[in-house]
Amino acid sequence: MIPENVKEKLEKYGQEHVLKYYDELDEESKKALVSQIEETDMSILAAALNPEKGAEKGKISPLPCMELDEIEAGREVFERTGTEAIKAGKVAAVLLAGGMGTRLGSDDPKGMYNVGLTKKLYIFECLINKMLDVVKQTGTYIHLFVMTSEKNNEATIGFLKEKSFFGYPEEYVHFFKQEMAPATDYNGKIYLEEKGRMATSPNGNGGWFISLMRAGLLEKAKEWGIEWFNIFAVDNVLQRIADPVFVGATIEKKCVVGAKVVRKNAPDEKVGVMCLEDGRPSIVEYYELTDELMNAKDEKGNPAYNFGVILNYLFYVDELERIVREELPLHVVKKKIPFLNENGELVKPEEPNGYKFENLVLDMIHQMSSCLPFEVVREKEFAPIKNKTGVDSVESARELLKKNGVEL
Ligand code: UTP
Repeated sequence: MIPENVKEKLEKYGQEHVLKYYDELDEESKKALVSQIEETDMSILAAALNPEKGAEKGKISPLPCMELDEIEAGREVFERTGTEAIKAGKVAAVLLAGGMGTRLGSDDPKGMYNVGLTKKLYIFECLINKMLDVVKQTGTYIHLFVMTSEKNNEATIGFLKEKSFFGYPEEYVHFFKQEMAPATDYNGKIYLEEKGRMATSPNGNGGWFISLMRAGLLEKAKEWGIEWFNIFAVDNVLQRIADPVFVGATIEKKCVVGAKVVRKNAPDEKVGVMCLEDGRPSIVEYYELTDELMNAKDEKGNPAYNFGVILNYLFYVDELERIVREELPLHVVKKKIPFLNENGELVKPEEPNGYKFENLVLDMIHQMSSCLPFEVVREKEFAPIKNKTGVDSVESARELLKKNGVEL
């Protein structure tokens, strides 16, 4: 029997089709599907009918960036302050590894991808090596929190254990899972991924702090004296993590968040740029950047919106706790979603075929009261792996790794 409340919920959101195979299911699968329906937040699905609608932007103005020459001039002080904070155990790293990496197209978690040529060199290994650089420099192990999703949690943990965490002490590595959201076709109808299971996908990287908190890890982090979380993407194999100079500069400038940025390589480069929005720090996405903003100049005559974010932020924990109840905007994103076709067969599409619903970490920046954009040299710190070939790919990252002396 399908409980009344479940039927009513599906009717309310126009999702009755997810029960198409209900009668064929065994008792256990029936129960599992009913609980999945009960637990799923379907109120977000309405956004699929209006996917282009983003949150209205406020008044945009420039946010000055700490550029390389200023960093060089203050390096000694910043490095000392940052190193002190790290030695005191105040800085932790958070690896965002819950994404599906659909553009790369591997079934394994992205971190398991081998970028080596003559030897094995996994993405996770590159990142751990970066952490070990700082461990060596500061003589301190840094706690590493790893966000996974229910789709890749087991594989991620299994792999890292098998590889003995690439030399990082296991007691400093902590895993937590992010939440999931339903995935739909272009009409907002939830796909089935099995006869007794609705298609779901990770709900974006914006939920990382809530998920970390729900897993009981915030409490632990506070017990350990952690005051700063350096969050970073799984796919940038060159970035410095818990970089003492970056940490020190953010602290010295009394900002509650620091954002590593790179100078744009063209006015229309597809990166989100740092700015102020109604007087608060924010990020304008490249598709929101009007011609007027693209061509605007600062008082020195340089482009006013010239620094793009690379998903490496340092957040002050107290400030995260202050904003934790504030809602983030919902992004409706076109993705490839495996689904059951008319005949009940699983199809893995080659092209995007529907929507996922995501909250994004970049929207958290606008909730913060102050932010330091901190310039890094693109060729030394930005090698994202989104695709197999072309821009931001395994190929381009390999070139950059080689240029930085990494043996492949
Ligand atoms: P991307 O925006 O590249 O998304 O994630 P993705 O899902 O991994 O890849 P595609 O678009 O399907 O190819 C940027 C960073 O945010 C993490 C990713 O793991 C990556 O480190 N992320 C993304 C999450 O942790 N959770 C998510 O739900 C989405």
